[in-house]
Amino acid sequence: MRHLITSALPYINGIKHLGNLVGSMLPADVYARFLRQEGEEVLYICGTDEHGTPAEIAALEEGLDVADFCKRQYERQAEVYQKFGLSFDYFGRTSSQAQRELTQDFYRSLDQHGFIEEREISQVYSITDERFLPDRYVEGTCPNCGYEKARGDQCENCTKMLNPTDLINPRSAVSGSTAVEVRTSRHLFLRLDKLSDEVRSWVESQQDWPSLTKSIAKKWLDEGLQSRGITRDLKWGVPVPKAGFEDKVFYVWFDAPIGYVSATKSWGEANPDRDWKSWWYDAEDVRYTQFMAKDNLPFHTIMWPATILGTREPWKMADYIKGFNWLNYYGGKFSTSSKRGVFLDQALEIAPADYWRYMLMASAPESSDSAFTWEQFQTKVNKELADNFGNFINRILKFTASRFGNELPDGGEPGEAEAELEARCQELVGELRSHLKNMQFRKATETLNALWSAGNQYIDVRAPWTLFKQDKDQAAVVIRTCVNLIRLYAVASAPFIPETAERLFDALQLTGAERQSTMTDATDLTILKAGRAFEVPPVLFQKIDDDRVAELKAQYGGE
Ligand code: MF3
Ligand code: ZN
Repeated sequence: MRHLITSALPYINGIKHLGNLVGSMLPADVYARFLRQEGEEVLYICGTDEHGTPAEIAALEEGLDVADFCKRQYERQAEVYQKFGLSFDYFGRTSSQAQRELTQDFYRSLDQHGFIEEREISQVYSITDERFLPDRYVEGTCPNCGYEKARGDQCENCTKMLNPTDLINPRSAVSGSTAVEVRTSRHLFLRLDKLSDEVRSWVESQQDWPSLTKSIAKKWLDEGLQSRGITRDLKWGVPVPKAGFEDKVFYVWFDAPIGYVSATKSWGEANPDRDWKSWWYDAEDVRYTQFMAKDNLPFHTIMWPATILGTREPWKMADYIKGFNWLNYYGGKFSTSSKRGVFLDQALEIAPADYWRYMLMASAPESSDSAFTWEQFQTKVNKELADNFGNFINRILKFTASRFGNELPDGGEPGEAEAELEARCQELVGELRSHLKNMQFRKATETLNALWSAGNQYIDVRAPWTLFKQDKDQAAVVIRTCVNLIRLYAVASAPFIPETAERLFDALQLTGAERQSTMTDATDLTILKAGRAFEVPPVLFQKIDDDRVAELKAQYGGE
C-alpha cells in the first residue's frame, strides 16, 4: 500500500491561526512523518484554496489585482508552513492551469452522465459594485428582530436563517451602497438528489470511520440531498466551458477538492519520474487519508464523493476521513475574519515551531471541542518539553562530557535495570505506534511523555552521579544506555517535533541511516557503542514564566 494524505486546503485570504493548524495540517504532517519513518511510501499534498468572493473582496480592500493578491498570499502561507515544519510533498494552488483543466473535465463528465441541470435563479445584484452579491454579502435590517446589520444568510443577533430578499433596506456589504436589485441569471446545478443513494452506500460501506465523520455524513443524507448550484456570477475562478456561461465561473466549493488532484498533477509535472495519476486514478494500491476540521466534513463526505461518483470514472475516494472538533480561544472560536486568537506568524514570534507542534497535538480537539489557554501552553512546555524531556538530555550529556569526555565511555555490561528499561521502551513504543496508526494524536503525546518519564525513572534508580564515585564501569553502562535512550527519544519524537529531533541527531552525530531508524529498531539501547563521539547541545527548551504568560494574555486578549 502507498499512502496518499491530504489536509483541507486553507483559504487564500490571510495567514491562518492555530485553530486551522491543529484541525488539519499539523496532524496530517505528524501522520505523514510517522508513516515515512516506518518505511511507507507517502505522498502528502496540500495547497491554497484561492477562488471565491472572500478572495476577491480581500484583494479589492488591498487595492490589488486578485491574481497578484493570491500570489502574494500563497507565498506568505507557504513560507509560514515551511517554518512550522509541514512536510508537504507538494503545496499547490487552485488557481493553477492543472486545476482549470481538471475542473472542466470533471464538469464535462458529470454533464455527460446526466448529473448537471440548468436553472434560472434570482440573486441580489449591486449596481454600484457591478456584481452579484453572495447571500452573506447583502446586509440589512432583520425582519425578525430589527437588528440593523443582519446578513443575507442569517441574522447574527437572533440567529434566524434568512434569504437576502427578506432584509429590510438591503445594501451591499462590499460598498455599503443601497443601489441593489434582484436579477435573474442562469446557473448549473449538480444533481445531488440523483446521486444520494450511491453516496449513502459508499458512506455505509465505511467500517472504520470515526464517529464524528460518520454522524455528520448521515445527518446530511437523512435530511435529503438537493441539487446544488455549482456556478457563480464572478470573474475570479475556473471558467465554465459552456456557451452562454462565458461570464461565469465554477463555485469555489465545486473546484476546491479538485485541488487535491490538481496539486498532485502539478507535483507530477515537476519531475518526469513521477506518475501522478497512479495516485488518483484506478489507484487500488493507495490508501487515502484526509484530515480536516468538522465544518469541512459535509463537503468531503457528501459533495466531493458525489462529484466523483457522478463522473463514472475511477477517481480515488477517501479511505479514511479524520475530522477534528474546534480548538476554542477563551470562550469563542479562533476566527480569521474577526482576528481572534493567535495567528501562525505571531505564534512563531512567541515560541519556536516545535513548542507549538507538541502543545497543539497534546490538546488536539479529537473527541470534543477543546480550549486553548496560555496556562496550558505554559504547562506543556515547562513540565513536559523542558522538564521531562529536555532536562534529561542536557543533564545526561553534560554529566557525561564532564566526567568521561565527549565520547561514550567503555566498561561494564547492561544488567537487569537496563533490560527492564528496554522492555518498558518496547511496550511504550508499541503503544505510540498504535496511537499514531489510529491517528489518536492526544493519546500519542501522552505515550511519548510516558516514554520520556521512563528515562527519568531509570536514572532516579541508577543515579549515575553517585554511581560514578562507587563503580565507574556501572556508571558507564548507565551513560551508554541513556545516550541510546536519547536517540530513541529523538526518533520517537521526530513526527511531532522534527526540528528538535534533528538537533539531537546532530548532537549524537548520527549517520544518515541511523537517523532514519524506525522507533521499533531504536528501542535497542545498545546500538551506540563505547567510543562514539557526541556534543552537548544548548538547552533544548526555554521555560515560559508567569510574567510572560500574563504579558501574552494581555497582548492576545486571553481573558
Ligand atoms: N478552504 C476550505 C476551508 O478552509 C477547505 C477546502 S478543502 C477542499 O475551510 F478540499 F475543498 F479544498
Ligand atoms: Zn434578527
